[in-house]
Amino acid sequence: MFSHERIIVRRGPESGLPIIVAVHSTKLGPALGGCRLKAYGQWQDGLTDALRLSAAMTDKCALAGLPNGGGKTVIVGPATDPGLREAALHDAGTVIEELGGRYATGPDVGTGPDDMVTIGRRTSHVFCRPVGAGGSGDSSPGTAVGTVAALRAVCAARFGSAALAGRCFAVIGLGRVGGRVARLLAEAGAKLVVTDVDPALRPLADELGATWTTPDEALTADVDVVVPAALGGVLTPAVVTALRCAAVAGPANNQLDTPATADLLHARGILWAPDYVVSAGGVISATAVELHHDTPAQVAARLDAIGTTLTTVFTNAERDHITPGAAAHHLSRARVG
Ligand SMILES: NC(=O)c1ccc[n+]([C@@H]2O[C@H](COP(=O)([O-])OP(=O)(O)OC[C@H]3O[C@@H](n4cnc5c(N)ncnc54)[C@H](O)[C@@H]3O)[C@@H](O)[C@H]2O)c1
Repeated sequence: MFSHERIIVRRGPESGLPIIVAVHSTKLGPALGGCRLKAYGQWQDGLTDALRLSAAMTDKCALAGLPNGGGKTVIVGPATDPGLREAALHDAGTVIEELGGRYATGPDVGTGPDDMVTIGRRTSHVFCRPVGAGGSGDSSPGTAVGTVAALRAVCAARFGSAALAGRCFAVIGLGRVGGRVARLLAEAGAKLVVTDVDPALRPLADELGATWTTPDEALTADVDVVVPAALGGVLTPAVVTALRCAAVAGPANNQLDTPATADLLHARGILWAPDYVVSAGGVISATAVELHHDTPAQVAARLDAIGTTLTTVFTNAERDHITPGAAAHHLSRARVG
């Protein structure tokens, strides 16, 4: 936890809100990680989040083959007043600028592409501004495409064929990423069970010919693969006991309540794909477009490589008799050093 290179905690001079920037590692290159704007019980909880999430970004970038390390910005809200929000984003930009390019940010929970324009008034080290403002825009389409590449690798490892047609998936959360994943799976001929706490998303289920159910029922549905695409922490010991799927793989961050839950999944013979490998499509597509100026075909190839990485993780796990989570972590350590 305290292996971080740099941690800045500051009362923002423009907003008065706590601004936290954690740089976990720059060994592979400048650190990347989104800007989270969220209300916490106390600011120390925001610091804990920043430390944990920046370390996870180091693993995510390493496994994605990017020449980058991990970092994170946390603005401890709430900042519902537009003026306060703007001031807080300026404060975050000022701190990031002071780091001189060792860390660049992008959208995360509570922020979006438009907010990156606001941060960008104080620093150039920012990704995912809207396309019209010179950025690569919303990263969730890339995350969704990368998730589907990961699901193909999961099917190959678990069922002996990467084909999605005829396989049954339970997609939990039909937001920016989950909604697109569900659509891509339906287009590939998969059978779908879907859910969201927001009933306004139910028409998408009808449009895709999917079965709409409750979040609890989706999690324990009798399907091939459960795809968590909402919040983290869904995989608890109690949930793992109740699972009826053969695999769990989705873009939701931090799916395990604790790392030990990976062992329980393994013991039950349920294949779990580490979320930071599955969800890397957003950072891969943003850097491909904004840093490498890749063509759409090159971006697509980079996203497809998520499947190859996951296959390596599964192969190493089987060879070494360890969980995919442990295998992914070893691979990250080998790359970061
Ligand atoms: N957007 C990206 O590019 C990206 C990149 C990496 C990881 N992720 C992760 O993927 C997940 C989804 O991200 P998103 O951008 O689609 O978010 P989003 O806010 O657009 O969508 C989340 C959806 O989940 C629903 N939801 C919330 N709680 C739920 C519950 N208990 N049961 C069922 N549905 C619930 C919400 O109503 C919403 O529709 C998050 O964990 C996020 O951290 C996203």
